[in-house]
Amino acid sequence: MDRTETGDRVRCRGLVKIYSAATGQVQALRGVDLDIPAGRVVAVVGPSGGGKSSLLRIMAGLERATAGSVTVDGIDLAQVGSRARRRLRARLLSHVYQRPVDNLISHLTAAQQVARVAVRRGQRPDAAVAMLERVDLGTRLDHRPGELSGGEQQRLAFARAAVGAPSIIIADEPTAELDSANSTRVLDTIDLLFETGVTVVVATHDPQVVERIDHVVILRDGAIEAIEERGRTYAAIDHTGRIQLPPGLHHRFPGGRAVLAWSQEAGHLTVRPDDPGEQPRRDS
Ligand SMILES: Nc1ncnc2c1ncn2[C@@H]1O[C@H](COP(=O)(O)OP(=O)(O)OP(=O)(O)O)[C@@H](O)[C@H]1O
Ligand SMILES: [Mg+2]
Repeated sequence: MDRTETGDRVRCRGLVKIYSAATGQVQALRGVDLDIPAGRVVAVVGPSGGGKSSLLRIMAGLERATAGSVTVDGIDLAQVGSRARRRLRARLLSHVYQRPVDNLISHLTAAQQVARVAVRRGQRPDAAVAMLERVDLGTRLDHRPGELSGGEQQRLAFARAAVGAPSIIIADEPTAELDSANSTRVLDTIDLLFETGVTVVVATHDPQVVERIDHVVILRDGAIEAIEERGRTYAAIDHTGRIQLPPGLHHRFPGGRAVLAWSQEAGHLTVRPDDPGEQPRRDS
């Protein structure tokens, strides 16, 4: 197993995902490059069908990409067999599903749910109690999922996901089934976990989530349309040098062509539509 030292927990390169459906092939991801550094919380947003869940399933090792690579702490998920991948998933990758019931085992208490994962990840069972106290579920240690609210169940799911220092917690629409007050508490839980240094990627349509997360990746039609960081919007340039135009501007570039001009003095690149009246430049 290859291990390369990088500052990134997760590194996606050229991810392509093609599904075969009855109506033909669907290209869910069209070459996604994304790095998630350790200790960062990243939101993945964008229109329905844009590829968020596909990307998260591949990052979580639940599905293989059609092409491209995903490395988690330097381990290439595509290069390991299915048993090793299951072991890696158990040790390094945590997944929080949309529906609270999918995240928990109905006959176990909150403390037991978290303790099982703690032990599997080489920690003492009492790490579970500390984790539940940290996320403000210290008074619910002996409650089974059926005795918790939906919001408490999702907070428990995050506590379970975070125990034992996984590389990353991957959460697909974790607040979608919750009302706004419970969503807020789940976000508070993510904040509390953030202080412990966890790395989280969360796909969401919830504006509240986007408001509270500093790093937002916008995925549209299987490609990264833009990245928003602390109020600034960036275009993404992939590892082959491709850059995505903002969608509202496509029609300004008829024929799918642009003229690029790099200004050495200004240190910037201008992208403008071709002017049909302009004489083509002949390089002699
Ligand atoms: N198992 C599958 N088989 C066939 N097509 C699929 C499969 N899973 C996803 N797709 C297609 O891939 C594209 C991306 O889907 P995906 O679920 O990743 O989008 P999403 O951004 O998570 O959408 P939403 O916001 O609705 O959850 C869609 O066109 C979808 O129909
Ligand atoms: Mg989805």
